[in-house]
Amino acid sequence: MSALPKTAFIDPTGHNRADIEALLHQAIALLIEEMTQADARSPLPEPIATEQFEQWAQIPEQSVDSEVLLGWVRSQLKSSMNAAHPGYMGHMDSIPTTLSVIGDLLVAALNNNMLSVEMSPVFSRLEQLVMQQIAARFGLGASAGGVMVSGGSLANLQALTVARNVAFNAVDTGIVGLKGQPVFFVSEVAHTSMQKAAMMMGLGAKSAIPLRTNKNSQIEIEDFKAKLAQSLRQGQLPFAVVATAGTTVTGSIDPIEQIAAIAHSHQLWLHVDAAYGGALAFSPDHRHLLSGISQANSVTFNPQKWLYVAKTCAVVLFKQFELLDQYFRIRAPYMGEDTQWPNLGELTVQGTRHPDILKLWLSLQHVGTAGYAEIIRHNYEITTQFVEAVKARPILELASEPQMNLVCFRLAPETVSAEECDRLNSQLQSYLLTGHSAQSDSSSADHLERASAPVFLSLPTYRGRRWLKAVLLNPYTQPSTLEKLFKAVDEFVQAQGLD
Ligand SMILES: Cc1ncc(COP(=O)(O)O)c(C=O)c1O
Repeated sequence: MSALPKTAFIDPTGHNRADIEALLHQAIALLIEEMTQADARSPLPEPIATEQFEQWAQIPEQSVDSEVLLGWVRSQLKSSMNAAHPGYMGHMDSIPTTLSVIGDLLVAALNNNMLSVEMSPVFSRLEQLVMQQIAARFGLGASAGGVMVSGGSLANLQALTVARNVAFNAVDTGIVGLKGQPVFFVSEVAHTSMQKAAMMMGLGAKSAIPLRTNKNSQIEIEDFKAKLAQSLRQGQLPFAVVATAGTTVTGSIDPIEQIAAIAHSHQLWLHVDAAYGGALAFSPDHRHLLSGISQANSVTFNPQKWLYVAKTCAVVLFKQFELLDQYFRIRAPYMGEDTQWPNLGELTVQGTRHPDILKLWLSLQHVGTAGYAEIIRHNYEITTQFVEAVKARPILELASEPQMNLVCFRLAPETVSAEECDRLNSQLQSYLLTGHSAQSDSSSADHLERASAPVFLSLPTYRGRRWLKAVLLNPYTQPSTLEKLFKAVDEFVQAQGLD
């Protein structure tokens, strides 16, 4: 096999051990060099030139030397989204736990498959046991359990599919021929995976009926009652309601207890999308914010967000795990059967699946619940400082009163039009990141000398306007990071003559 590089595989008899060791050392050295200096790169560094991509995209006939490849990867790392930077606050992404990075490397080398117990004998069992422990943290009861999936969107899809299958006994014959339109209710600011799920389930995206939210982005119970009554009057077939614990833009939590009471009295399945906020189950100080979640029939939770496990790492939990057997499972006759443990590929949308459980389990073991509680406490302290800084400046406006570590705010000078206001916030976003108030325009009026470190805030459209969103996840974001950020906001306001 002369065309193959010596290190193409790790020889199971150890013949290329020295070469493999050398290559892994180089890769680890690169990782350490880049990640221990992540704060020296911008949260969103300069993009790579198109010509460079054209070179990389070529599929070569002959092996490219691993040193050349690591050099290319170094350039890619340097220009990538840099979530480890303490000023990276734009999205629900952050620095991963060290043990989750190590876990991913090790399971990639092992290459087990979560499809069946025989293909991942240790990780299939471990996943089931850890899922039961996490379900217990949400108070879902003794019959609860769950499965891991690649992201919150798949978790929401699976939960709603099970809800539909239970409501209409739809596993074998689907929903064709029903006397009415199956619908479910979601917050108007719920994640778009709800519409995706409705579309994929054959119901049509419009069957995810949006519920109005109050000024703090929480479902208005009166609107839920009214829309439910209207839906029943119209002969629709409501089967579920979704409460969100941690909305994507403002981190708001719906009134889960009140929603659960209505769901219960109308035999609706209650799904809680706690993709983000589920981490509060690990915080003795804040877990009360999830009150009511124990009544959920299913819960989505993404440890890849606030538990800092490397992506992807998400779970979907069920109060009655055995429902999956009747209402989701499609058996794979080509797999060996284990009498005690299910083949997880029969219980999830995905067949072949990465053993995400190792990095989750390693992170939980290594950080410990006390460690997570401490990080979450720190995040809340930083958030309080952030909110106080916003409230201290009359020119700034909060989108809603934060319940978690997300702050959505904007510059809202009274004297400017709505469009001008949007433009100003976009310029402020750019200024905080680059020191320029407009990326494409470096005319002198737009070029200010920002005195502080770069910060990346995202610019979501929310209630029809542009806002700046900060997700205060990074454990290395310090009070001084925020002091510099607000100093830069003040500089911008002054330079624009808005003060
Ligand atoms: C509330 C909520 N639900 C679901 C999702 C979807 O998760 P994923 O991107 O992992 O599919 C997100 C993503 O940000 C989210 O914020």
